[in-house]
Amino acid sequence: MDSQTQMKQIVADAAIKEVKNDMIVGLGSGSTAALMIKSLAGEIHSGKLRNIRGVATSFQSEVLALELNIPLIDLASVSQIDLAIDGADEVDPGFQLIKGGGACHVREKLVADKANKLLIVVDETKLVKNLNRTFPLPVEVLPNAWKHVKEAISEMNGNSSLRMATKKAGPVVTDQGNLILDVLFKDGIKNPRDIEMIINNIPGVLENGLFVNRTDKVLVGKIENNVPVVYSLSKVC
Ligand code: 5RP
Repeated sequence: MDSQTQMKQIVADAAIKEVKNDMIVGLGSGSTAALMIKSLAGEIHSGKLRNIRGVATSFQSEVLALELNIPLIDLASVSQIDLAIDGADEVDPGFQLIKGGGACHVREKLVADKANKLLIVVDETKLVKNLNRTFPLPVEVLPNAWKHVKEAISEMNGNSSLRMATKKAGPVVTDQGNLILDVLFKDGIKNPRDIEMIINNIPGVLENGLFVNRTDKVLVGKIENNVPVVYSLSKVC
């Protein structure tokens, strides 16, 4: 196992300790969340955790949970989720996030919105001082609006590119049938709350990957003296 996977595995396992019997758990997306889902399935099938129901944040997490026999309930049929556990692409010192590297941020944000607690699990490569210096902000747009949104973001000094698929000609198509613009702002994102709202106000935008003031706890995996360890990140206000 490479060192990044070791960091992801240890943080995924640590997250499961926060799950208690009878909880409804938001199942995040991406490679770290996938390890967490596998770990959760292990605890359920060994009998350590009872009466757990999951709410998927993507086709990926839904398929994985089905394969692992984790009982699922639909987002529309829950009024609240006890705990959502998800990965992130960037985490700043104030716990503001960029998500959507897997193009799943629309449902991830819906699940986070219904969750009493949002627990983010990352390896330490995801920790940044300022958002969007290197990782582009994913913006989900209606297919026939991508050009319009790209132009509107360009007026905000944002450089967007349409995310292209691999092993398929043309763009990435999201679980909702939309497209993704990946946006880098000239000086990064200093005011995530404003940028989140301004982008979502552009006609044709469904949702962007900024998660502002939503995160309750961040667990970080790192390698120390060749050993993977996990710690809880302290928030800087
Ligand atoms: C998917 C996400 C993921 O949580 C994010 O991309 C992190 O993924 P990984 O754990 O594979 O690095 O937001 O939309």
